[in-house]
Amino acid sequence: MKILLLGKSGQLGWELQRSLAPLGELIALGRDNPGGDYTRLDEVRCTVRDIAPDVIVNAGAHTAVDKAESEPGLARQLNTLAPAMLAAEAQRLGAWMVHYSTDYVFDGSGSTPWAETDTVNPLSVYGRTKAESEVAIQQVGCRHLVFRTSWVYAARGGNFAKTMLRLGKERDGLTVIDDQIGAPTGADLLADVTAHALRIAWHRPEVAGLYHLVASGETSWYGYASYVLNTARKYGVELKVAPGAIKPVPTTAFPTPAERPRNSRLNTRKLQTAFGLTLPPWQTGVARMLAEILEK
Ligand SMILES: NC(=O)c1ccc[n+]([C@@H]2O[C@H](COP(=O)([O-])OP(=O)(O)OC[C@H]3O[C@@H](n4cnc5c(N)ncnc54)[C@H](OP(=O)(O)O)[C@@H]3O)[C@@H](O)[C@H]2O)c1
Repeated sequence: MKILLLGKSGQLGWELQRSLAPLGELIALGRDNPGGDYTRLDEVRCTVRDIAPDVIVNAGAHTAVDKAESEPGLARQLNTLAPAMLAAEAQRLGAWMVHYSTDYVFDGSGSTPWAETDTVNPLSVYGRTKAESEVAIQQVGCRHLVFRTSWVYAARGGNFAKTMLRLGKERDGLTVIDDQIGAPTGADLLADVTAHALRIAWHRPEVAGLYHLVASGETSWYGYASYVLNTARKYGVELKVAPGAIKPVPTTAFPTPAERPRNSRLNTRKLQTAFGLTLPPWQTGVARMLAEILEK
């Protein structure tokens, strides 16, 4: 299997470099590599044609959700036009296309976990450009795996848990949003499941399609922050914030340019059944990431 990975330096791209390597020949490009920059789609197209991969994995994206509101053209270029072009090239080559989308394609209404068959209704530029990428890939008709995920974190680089740890050391009290519900999902889990799914898809092309892929269980940002700080205390980290001094607040307490969905729960039954997988509770991955940070 010859795999072309684009967006190799992001949270997910970094983990995919590890998880895809055993599947065959892996060529990984970032936006700083010739042919890896989505603002130069002609060059990316030429690179894809030169390499002629069996699988194109797209980990590149415009993920700055608030910034996307003021640069919708760039967001569309990276999140819709680039994946649409990659899908067209995959179709031309008879290759697989792997792509990632988001819970932000939904409007966050209700409290039932969203299924793949539910109607999308994005609230933001980011959500809209990602929803359009899904349609574009489906319309091109290449063999594809599209994984919708949520609240992605990785041990490498900055993340919500690290921010909470820093604030917990600096401040007496913290206020954290309690009315957005979802599942923190590790980039390592996404990458491992991608590799597993690709191996199956290689032999069983009928599994092609759109899947929800998140850790199991659910929490709010407040629940996530509380879990991080409680775990840090168990590691003996000295925190200024007392256990009772984290205050849950509604989303309206932190106005942002992009509106976030309240209900980000994703139903993962389709993925678990199709690929014979059990998705671990979100706490398992977060505990692992914290161990990596705190045991240093
Ligand atoms: N992060 C989340 O919470 C979340 C939630 C749901 C879904 N997702 C989806 O999951 C996927 C992976 O997200 P992530 O968390 O790994 O994002 P990330 O860490 O922000 O990585 C995005 C990647 O896109 C690259 N990129 C930026 N501009 C580019 C350009 N002009 N050309 C080519 N590549 C460019 C970045 O390169 P540089 O490193 O050089 O900037 C980076 O490698 C994305 O499709 C995202 O929409 C993410």
